[in-house]
Amino acid sequence: MLGSGKLSSLGTGTALLCFLSALITPAVAVKEHDFKKCDQSGFCKRNRAFADNALQSNSWQSPYNLLPETKSFKDGQLQATILKTINANGDAVKLPITVSFLESGTARVTIDEEKRQKGEIELRHDSKARKERYNEAEQWVIVGGLTLDKGAKVASEDKKQITVQYGPSSKFEAVIKFSPFSIDFKRDGASQIKFNDRGLLNMEHWRPKIEPKQEEKKEGDEGEEKKEEEQKVEAPKGEDESTWWEETFGSNTDSKPRGPESVALDIEFVGYEHVFGIPSHAGPLSLKQTRGGEGNYQEPYRMYNADVFEYILDSPMTLYGSIPFMQAHRKDSSVGVFWLNAAETWVDITKGKDSKNPLALGVLSKTTTTTHWISESGLLDVFVFLGPRPQDITSKYAELTGTSAMPQEFSIGYHQCRWNYVSDEDVKDVDRKMDKFKIPYDVIWLDIEYTDEKKYFTWDSHTFPDPVGMGKHLDAHGRKLVTIIDPHIKNVDNYHVSSELKSKDHAVHNKEGSIFEGWCWPGSSNWIDAFSPAAREWWASLFKYSAFKGTLENTWVWNDMNEPSVFNGPETTMPKDNLHHGGWEHRDVHNLNGMTFHNATHHALKSRKPGELRRPFVLTRAFFAGSQRVGAMWTGDNQAAWDHLEASIPMVLSQGIAGYPFSGADVGGFFGNPDKELLTRWYQAGAFYPFFRGHAHIDARRREPYLAGEPYTPIITAALRLRYALLPSWYTAFYQAHADGSPIIKPMFYTHPGEEGGLEIDDQFFVGNTGLLARPVTKEGQNSVDIWIPDDEVYYDYFTYNLIPTTKGKKVTLDAPLDKIPLLMQGGHIFARRDRPRRSSALMKWDDYTLVVAVSKDGKSAEGDLYVDDGDSFDFEKGQYIRRKFVMEGSTISSVDAEGRDTKGVKEGEWMKKMRGVSVDKIMVVGAPSSWANKKEVSVESEGKSWSVEVEYSPAAKGRAAFAVIKKVGARIGADWKIVA
Ligand code: NOJ
Repeated sequence: MLGSGKLSSLGTGTALLCFLSALITPAVAVKEHDFKKCDQSGFCKRNRAFADNALQSNSWQSPYNLLPETKSFKDGQLQATILKTINANGDAVKLPITVSFLESGTARVTIDEEKRQKGEIELRHDSKARKERYNEAEQWVIVGGLTLDKGAKVASEDKKQITVQYGPSSKFEAVIKFSPFSIDFKRDGASQIKFNDRGLLNMEHWRPKIEPKQEEKKEGDEGEEKKEEEQKVEAPKGEDESTWWEETFGSNTDSKPRGPESVALDIEFVGYEHVFGIPSHAGPLSLKQTRGGEGNYQEPYRMYNADVFEYILDSPMTLYGSIPFMQAHRKDSSVGVFWLNAAETWVDITKGKDSKNPLALGVLSKTTTTTHWISESGLLDVFVFLGPRPQDITSKYAELTGTSAMPQEFSIGYHQCRWNYVSDEDVKDVDRKMDKFKIPYDVIWLDIEYTDEKKYFTWDSHTFPDPVGMGKHLDAHGRKLVTIIDPHIKNVDNYHVSSELKSKDHAVHNKEGSIFEGWCWPGSSNWIDAFSPAAREWWASLFKYSAFKGTLENTWVWNDMNEPSVFNGPETTMPKDNLHHGGWEHRDVHNLNGMTFHNATHHALKSRKPGELRRPFVLTRAFFAGSQRVGAMWTGDNQAAWDHLEASIPMVLSQGIAGYPFSGADVGGFFGNPDKELLTRWYQAGAFYPFFRGHAHIDARRREPYLAGEPYTPIITAALRLRYALLPSWYTAFYQAHADGSPIIKPMFYTHPGEEGGLEIDDQFFVGNTGLLARPVTKEGQNSVDIWIPDDEVYYDYFTYNLIPTTKGKKVTLDAPLDKIPLLMQGGHIFARRDRPRRSSALMKWDDYTLVVAVSKDGKSAEGDLYVDDGDSFDFEKGQYIRRKFVMEGSTISSVDAEGRDTKGVKEGEWMKKMRGVSVDKIMVVGAPSSWANKKEVSVESEGKSWSVEVEYSPAAKGRAAFAVIKKVGARIGADWKIVA
């Protein structure tokens, strides 16, 4: 389904597509009702009904029992069989369970279904699909951390339960009850997370479909009789069978050859009031309840990657990508779960006083959050993290799924995009104008119109006759080009990509096993099946410089529409009974699909030329857990409206705590035309998104920053320059995210987990470890903002050095006229800048640094770090980087290697040699000690030499803190040095 929002925008060249598409699309933009609600999704409805039945009954008992005699425990792993009783006769199905205790202290619970595992089931409609529950998500998602904890031990065991101690100093425990089966995960003796405590575990087992009773039954037909018997078995009273075998939504019918297969589990966070994560949703960071009630949602949070353009706000509706990772938090304690399942997933959240758990009442917390996870198919596979700090959760999750790749340095600068820059001359013109107005930017983007009739890997020869000339023009100032390449391949003759896709059989298949055909931008299209290794290899061949003519070393790639978006498909995506490589149904892998595609592109960019070893840059719209390893993401088609600007901040924060921090929203808003105030405020906010790109719909008016005029253009330029000046600190934050999975912009609960007042705050954040606290303006006409202060450090205004009168746990009002970004410096930090304004990050590569010291409340201390490498190659993996730790102690400021390496021993490559010429130029000491008041000079010691440099001290005045400027320091950024005042 494609709404007019996209259609109306197309040019005459695409008139045919418009006409044809109009036949299959409604006249209105896609809205909420074009996507399923829980009761329109058979398995969601069934599991909610299951939950209602269980929770409303006084006598409900979960029909899942672990058979103690089947259990074995070895090398940190418990294996057993669970029996699911399926009827009153006591018939049961076998579900093998493995509980793995990992060295990291993470536990993993995996439940399969024996019959499907062994392939002892029949598929309907002669389907060629696999019979097993999908068991390959791990191959895509997990990259480490699976080593078993040999130290895990059975602490006690009786007829009812077994208790395993594991984790650091054995302070974690899993109490596995047999009948009914449940697990209670404890830390230091206290319950944290419970599985199946409410009895909502449900694995829909395989069963044969019983066709309606025949009128005329042949005599002696035992088979029929047997089936009738089974029918009694398979349809217990009250069970809704209507969507077991077939399901229709809109005009599409899902043939469901395997019948019902859903997995569901209640996961209770004992004593936890807040849960975060499961992006992407347009709602608050602290997730809402989903079972109605004032201010709550009625629908579960949904994860089913979809092309939900013009999405609505404050909604649990699915968006373009999914990460089924959730973190629960209460004062001083975090725990989390990762639900490894790539099928359509819904999560209900309810909160309430936990009468069953007196410990949670008053002593630890007031409220328990219960979640109910429901996936359409696949294994039940859940990882459990017991914290206790938010960083423990993010780092253990990162150990499993990987951290964000070190980015191309340019990619953390500003990106200028629109749908579309219409010709190579247009691109060069925008580039020149950015220069003329002295507006820094790094990348200009080409949306789909650059192609020859939406045939990717080609250029429209009329509008882009000279892509090479265009690329070289950009390169002259270190700028890059990003071209869009989508996964749908135009289904036409005389297009080598299409003919190869088909002849080499690299496309996704339909349920009959033929190449799937659907509609997207080019009209009739086929989709690459990036689950297939051979398809990925072929995909890589298309990106070689020699194959994708017109691309240069400064060309990078944007992968869009990879949910995948199929205009005439159910919910704008692929039919669930389509088949992928290995015989897996699309239903099993849907949420992984986008990641396999941008992963293929990422690898393709690594092999464009033999010997070229550079970090790829790929932007993706669809994503899953693990996508962080291979690309950046953005939040899709937002609107040029204030509430969309506001919503973008919790959305980007949520990405960060779910391990995928390289994220941003379209600056300015995709649909519509922002007024100049909104555009300006959006640039000021966007300067704090990890991924910072202006983008606009084809129908939107041009809005490059230089068009805004006075006073807007200079204000936007100042926001861009702020971003560029702080690039060293942003890059350091990216490095930290790469090192341990930490977010790049951090919400209050993450940085101050002990402060209850901050747990719900999602409109302000810290940047990495810089102590920079930003609170962008997101409301029209707003001239001040309230910013919540998490501690009793001192806070300085970033721009004026004013000392902000703060009280821990209280909000303080900051003036925020249009030309002001509310930005504070928390005392106790040192961060790096490059102050010389340049046109692009590449031109700043060899510039000297400014260090800013925001002195702590004790008046004498601060700390900070800096990470630098060549921003392009993988040489950092071989030690080619600079990593400094800066410390102020009393009247000394020093720089040492942050890892204690003897950097003299590092063999310097070309980049490191050149960095020898890069120094610390200036040090701004904000809140400088009064003992510095009469100093005119300070001494610098470095590399066996010492020299004096000028210092200029400005005493405190009218609310402004005292500050000192140490000038022309001249010590190498890569060397140890010490300044004594
Ligand atoms: C949808 C994307 O979300 C949007 O950013 C892009 O401009 C259009 N597709 C056209 O490619």
